Amino acid sequence: MKKNILLIGHGAMARKVLQELPDHLQISHLLIREAQRAETEAALAGSGIHIVTSLEECEAVPDFALECAGHGAVEQYGAEFLAKGIDFGVVSVGALANKALMDQLEAAAQAGKSQLHILAGAVAGIDALAAAREGGLDEVIYSSCKPPLSWLNSPAEQLLDLKSLTEPTAFYEGNAREAARQFPANANVAATIALAGLGFEKTRVRLVADPTVKGNVHRIHARGSFGEFDIELRGKPLVDNPKTSTLAALSAVRALRHGGDWIVI
Ligand SMILES: NC(=O)c1ccc[n+]([C@@H]2O[C@H](COP(=O)([O-])OP(=O)(O)OC[C@H]3O[C@@H](n4cnc5c(N)ncnc54)[C@H](O)[C@@H]3O)[C@@H](O)[C@H]2O)c1
Repeated sequence: MKKNILLIGHGAMARKVLQELPDHLQISHLLIREAQRAETEAALAGSGIHIVTSLEECEAVPDFALECAGHGAVEQYGAEFLAKGIDFGVVSVGALANKALMDQLEAAAQAGKSQLHILAGAVAGIDALAAAREGGLDEVIYSSCKPPLSWLNSPAEQLLDLKSLTEPTAFYEGNAREAARQFPANANVAATIALAGLGFEKTRVRLVADPTVKGNVHRIHARGSFGEFDIELRGKPLVDNPKTSTLAALSAVRALRHGGDWIVI
């Protein structure tokens, strides 16, 4: 049983995790940026959670750290925690499209005899995809469909007139590595699918601006020796952050439950 759980970040996802955490689990430490200390301490007063801004500040070494903070936090803390023998859970999986960071994390995990846990996040079917890989996969295609305005502030702006689009339009087709490089804000799900299945180079990604959809629609097509599957998931965003899906936060709760329950599914 994992006793000491450290959560990184106190944004929309971490707040949802704290809200949905089963009663028998307790977060021992919350790692935040110094600038957020006062507001976080006020928000969590009486919760029993120690607010820290570094691993050194923790009075007991955590068993498990869960990043709910962004790609920068994976870069900042991943190798440090793994090298110290602390299993590290990641929701900002897009950070792992950076091969140099992956190499660094692998070396740290080997040195610390620890594990990097990739959370399924906003998408379904990661269990099936990872199982299918064991028998051999021939093809994995991920399509991400979002309303046009959700693609504002991404390179899609240069490729399409997002404000006047009237029909679904694909503006990127390529591999998951390049998708993560060009669209880092949308890289998490593509990276998770790549890591579970055929890897960053062989996983095909299609990004679509679709005025007919309301939320984010994730579609995965996978084919291999197991057969084939097509999954479509229509996620609802978190109230506090329209860019983060509710399911991603709930997958973080599930990961924490895994460390504390007698039954794992
Ligand atoms: N895997 C998935 O499917 C999926 C889906 C949605 C979001 N995500 C990831 O989850 C992350 C968190 O989402 P959110 O809605 O809470 O975002 P948010 O912007 O609401 O909150 C992020 C919080 O983390 C803090 N933070 C950032 N870098 C930090 C660092 N180095 N150290 C400590 N704190 C740091 C920020 O100050 C902020 O409070 C996103 O950045 C995204 O990468 C993953």
